[in-house]
Amino acid sequence: MLPLKCLISAGPTREWIDPVRFISNPSSGKMGYALAKEARDMGFDVCLVSGPVELSKPKGVEVIEVESALNMKRVIDEKFNFYDWVIMTAAVCDHRPKSRNKIKIPKDQFPENLLMSRNPDILKELGEKKRENQVLVGFAAETHMVLESAHKKLKQKKLDWIVANDVSKTNQGFSSDQNEVTLINSDGLENQISRADKSVIAKEILHAIHLSWLEKAH
Ligand code: CTP
Repeated sequence: MLPLKCLISAGPTREWIDPVRFISNPSSGKMGYALAKEARDMGFDVCLVSGPVELSKPKGVEVIEVESALNMKRVIDEKFNFYDWVIMTAAVCDHRPKSRNKIKIPKDQFPENLLMSRNPDILKELGEKKRENQVLVGFAAETHMVLESAHKKLKQKKLDWIVANDVSKTNQGFSSDQNEVTLINSDGLENQISRADKSVIAKEILHAIHLSWLEKAH
């Protein structure tokens, strides 16, 4: 039997203002990389689409490096049809500067109000075109109303699973080595995964999804 194919996005995106400034977020990519390693160890064929992070590339995983949300979308859209599972852990910037200045903007000419354009919602568009037997997983990075917002995103983006992640606590989430999350399936059933290293969290998430995948007799 062919190995299951798993596409994972990780890390932040970077939206350049000029050659020396960009807008981004503190995502370290650790959760996505941990999932990629675990999926590889489960025997899956893994492709990791990674924003700029300071992590070494996992062996045995195809890694495609991207910078902006638009770059990330282009790569993921090209790959999407060829994968069984797609897991979006990336902290995609929702906005980008309307234009990227070719040369450095001197500080006294820097605009007081930066004009921004909305980036596409990569995951929501995948939810619209996903095949019946594809599994789509999102991550909800929240600072308040964590579970309520995650349930909403699960429905709005037509996902099979969402991982609710409270990023308001300093000892978990974004750049920490540990996390504490709630995995929610498309029926709205919650499975709390208690605080542990991201490698352990990755294992629990993937095993839960795999069990359900096998039960659906793929
Ligand atoms: N996501 C995406 N494209 C975007 C924004 C988010 O694909 N432009 C994906 C993320 O990778 C994540 C999920 O959508 O899997 C939820 O991201 P999150 O940042 O929690 O929420 P948003 O949809 O951006 O909504 P909001 O910022 O209003 O909370």
